[in-house]
Amino acid sequence: MKGADGVSFRIPRGTVDIMPGEVETWQYIEEKVRDLCHRCHFSEVRTPIFEQTDLFRRGVGETTDIVEKEMYTFTDRGGRSLTLRPEGTASLVRSFVEKKMYGEPQPTKWYYIGPMYRYERPQAGRQRQFHQFGVEVFGTTDPGIDAEIIDLGVQFYTSLGLKNVHVELNSVGCHRCRPLYREKLVEFLAPKREELCKDCQSRLERNPMRILDCKNESCQQVTAKAPRMVEHLCEDCASHFEKVQEYLKLLGVEYRIDTRMVRGLDYYTQTAFEFTLDGQGGSLGGGGRYNGLVQEIGGPEVPGIGFGLGLERTVLALKEQQVDIPVQRGIDLFLIAWGEEPKRRGIPLLKEIRQAGFSAERDYLDRKFKGQMKAADRMKASYVAILGEDELKENRIAVKHLETGKQETIELNQLVAYMRQGRCK
Ligand code: HAM
Repeated sequence: MKGADGVSFRIPRGTVDIMPGEVETWQYIEEKVRDLCHRCHFSEVRTPIFEQTDLFRRGVGETTDIVEKEMYTFTDRGGRSLTLRPEGTASLVRSFVEKKMYGEPQPTKWYYIGPMYRYERPQAGRQRQFHQFGVEVFGTTDPGIDAEIIDLGVQFYTSLGLKNVHVELNSVGCHRCRPLYREKLVEFLAPKREELCKDCQSRLERNPMRILDCKNESCQQVTAKAPRMVEHLCEDCASHFEKVQEYLKLLGVEYRIDTRMVRGLDYYTQTAFEFTLDGQGGSLGGGGRYNGLVQEIGGPEVPGIGFGLGLERTVLALKEQQVDIPVQRGIDLFLIAWGEEPKRRGIPLLKEIRQAGFSAERDYLDRKFKGQMKAADRMKASYVAILGEDELKENRIAVKHLETGKQETIELNQLVAYMRQGRCK
């Protein structure tokens, strides 16, 4: 595509236009999100798409891939360093602290849905602008909420008709037991340093737990017999982990324990989980508890837990599983106003039909009668209403049901009532 001066414009790499035909699936998913969140008493929060860069450095963690190499960071005209949000949790925590929500009765239950930005190598299910549906709950350590949140994710997928979504569960401990475990892990890995990939060699100092979920085969072999976090949990974390599992069972949620799963963000404590799908690389969604994050962002000691579900991956899975999305595919009525006077009368008539709640369309290009009938077909109209000079003189209108071919002429002022009764259907 070239502009007037020969410059060509292309969509930025790693982004997509969601076009008619596909956008209905997104709208359907969004409806499901809102309905589910409403029933579970979550309120929506809309935060800005960019934040101070330091929020993510602090929140997500300096040594994470996101902060080290994936952020869209820029300096604005006032010299401030800003970053397009790579995820939603840090922003919601910032808002929770800034609005002093911790002074309100707890828990605070929030959800969000919107675009996130990460400079990653684009591939199927991985984009630079992608969308997440996320929930965050602040102010309770009740392990029941951990299970409810995981169950909420499962309910989201099942309500869409997705099958074979698995829950992977782990506990990553807390600021008391994790440092001890970390030491043990480094002690175990240090002599095997040379067998690790380059990335993991540097992780050994900076973020050794990430070595556990490295996809590199030789790293996986090295870590196969490594000490496991779940066996080094302190009493609090161990009992929390037990109870989460107990509640999951009560809720009928099946899960697998994956002791290697550490998640790519630094804020997690205790519960960590992912939703995965057989055969799809990467996770559909993930989340966990973050009991220290509110404090890290400048608030009091308030626990939190939540998840972020990738919507591109959800749409992809719906396609792969050929799930039928119930969307209205056509319009209710196409109006053919034939002649000067009928056209004048047709314009307010169309407005009246639309205001009555029907989707209606007309011709804007002075097409011939046949062309207009074709347009009605193309738009998958249920009815075509024909208003000609003769009909108008008698204050009548012809209505045709396209599927059955049945046609009748009715009083003009009865059209809306006629459609309401669905007599043509
Ligand atoms: P996350 O695991 O980084 O967690 O991302 C959650 C989900 O977002 C992933 O499972 C994936 O489906 C989707 N996702 C991530 N990156 C991309 C990408 N480049 N393209 C397409 N989809 C992507 C978080 O973001 C945490 N904030 C979740 C959370 C909320 N934890 C607690 N509360």
